[in-house]
Amino acid sequence: MFFLTTAIDYTNGSPHIGHAYEKVLADVIARYRRLTGEEVFFLTGVDQHGQKVQQTAEKEGVSPAEYVKTVTARFSALWEKIGVEYDGWAETTDARHITCVQSILADLHAKDQIYKKSYKGFYSVRQEQFLTDRDRNEAGEFGAEWGEVTEIEEENYYFKLSDHTPWLREFLEKSDDTILPAFRKSELLNALEKNTGADLCISRPKDRLTWGIELPFDPDFVTYVWFDALINYISFVGYTPDDSLPEFESIWTDRPVHIIGKDILVPAHGIYWLAMLHAIGFTDEKMPQLLVHGWWNKKNQSGEEEKMSKSLGNIVDPSELADTFGVDALRYYLVRDIHTGKDSNFDLDRLVMLFNTELANELGNLCNRALNMSVRFTEGIISPGGPLTDDDTALQQSLIDNTAAYRKAMDNHEISMGLEALNRHVVHCNQYAEKMKPWELNKDLAHKDRLATVLHHLAESVAHCAVLLSPILPDASAKLAAQVKLPNLTDLKLDDLKWGLIPSDHEIEKPSPVFPRIDMKSLSEDA
Ligand code: MSP
Repeated sequence: MFFLTTAIDYTNGSPHIGHAYEKVLADVIARYRRLTGEEVFFLTGVDQHGQKVQQTAEKEGVSPAEYVKTVTARFSALWEKIGVEYDGWAETTDARHITCVQSILADLHAKDQIYKKSYKGFYSVRQEQFLTDRDRNEAGEFGAEWGEVTEIEEENYYFKLSDHTPWLREFLEKSDDTILPAFRKSELLNALEKNTGADLCISRPKDRLTWGIELPFDPDFVTYVWFDALINYISFVGYTPDDSLPEFESIWTDRPVHIIGKDILVPAHGIYWLAMLHAIGFTDEKMPQLLVHGWWNKKNQSGEEEKMSKSLGNIVDPSELADTFGVDALRYYLVRDIHTGKDSNFDLDRLVMLFNTELANELGNLCNRALNMSVRFTEGIISPGGPLTDDDTALQQSLIDNTAAYRKAMDNHEISMGLEALNRHVVHCNQYAEKMKPWELNKDLAHKDRLATVLHHLAESVAHCAVLLSPILPDASAKLAAQVKLPNLTDLKLDDLKWGLIPSDHEIEKPSPVFPRIDMKSLSEDA
């Protein structure tokens, strides 16, 4: 089983483009793996506890439970709107999750992995964590990223993280495929070096925070939000400490892939989560792989790239984008204009340009011209014709080579490079059409077979492209399959793809554009 998860989003505010990117990336990877024939379980959801949620709910004059319900609905509505299809949905206020977190805590407590101590130190409300001198900036201060910082002294429970860091260091050093892409591994190892000896505070006193999961061994405390949230990856697939359900054994069969943003690798996933799993009893062979993606930033008026944040007021709303430009344009842009692992700059002009050039002008044009000419010149009948010329075999070779390049890129989670390979074949096809000039061939009956061959090569390519595009744009892919009158194309697996998807004497009808051009002028007139 290919078990794939994303980070669960804080239910504090509305979903933004960063959340949407991560979920679309996961959705594309899940659909691609299904296309390779693998069984897939895709889990995503929302992180509903913590001090920030409690504070925002208070400000809005509603209970935290009511507040998270409203915000959760915004997330799930967005995923439905933009075609993010998951198999499991994690909400951390769910009773199933709470029971699992509490039984893990009780188990670790019984195994002496949790102890109580008093600690005096600086605390960041925004990040909901204690700070140390290592968190000060060069000027010796706690920077703006920590928000309000106060000094507090309190008793809390600690998880013996330090018992597991020697194992973690050794495990990471010898593993080349736990942290993807690999360049992030050194960042994690450096952080681990600094972290030696530190344990993790996993509780918050109820007089400060009530909106959390109560500790099973001390009702005066709730669980630290990260300790609670990370457990979603196992609680929602049937894990229990003493006797996991068959469901768990069937889903967590190998190493799952957790997709996360670069901001939550260190320390949350790379240190806390792996150490927690080790303490719980997971073996090295069952440790998750962390696929760490970069950030979508936004250029400010001086042209500098900035993080998107509520305080800077530069948040992009994915739902509005889907309304304005369509779901296809949004999904395509989100995985096309970023290399997995790297940052990118969110740019509306590029969203429109990429849709108009690669989808409307190239793939859409290929589909329209291939099918329109078949309707006009061969009464809608597509047949192989023959014999083949060098141009025909070169087109078939381009399809073989680019499908292989697509698969290699997609296997490495490099969606943008997968799409580049697909586009290379489409461009090849359009150049082939220009060179073969079927409209000229149509003028002379003597070229009837040649005309059939050319149109067949173009239509066959459209059929292949519909399958290759399906993880990224499932709806558009189904429309392309319907236009070539092969609705079953969408049931094919990648290994079924070979020349000859279109049967002999196959009849099609006049197409209608699957990718109508986005016209910025008329959009601004509408606004
Ligand atoms: N609740 C935690 C995750 C807990 S996982 C057990 C959290 N939530 S979040 O809402 O702040 O972020 C959710 C995901 O969105 C993270 O992986 C984060 O990196 C990602 N993104 C948030 N802003 C982003 C961008 N601007 N660009 C790309 N992804 C970013 O962290």
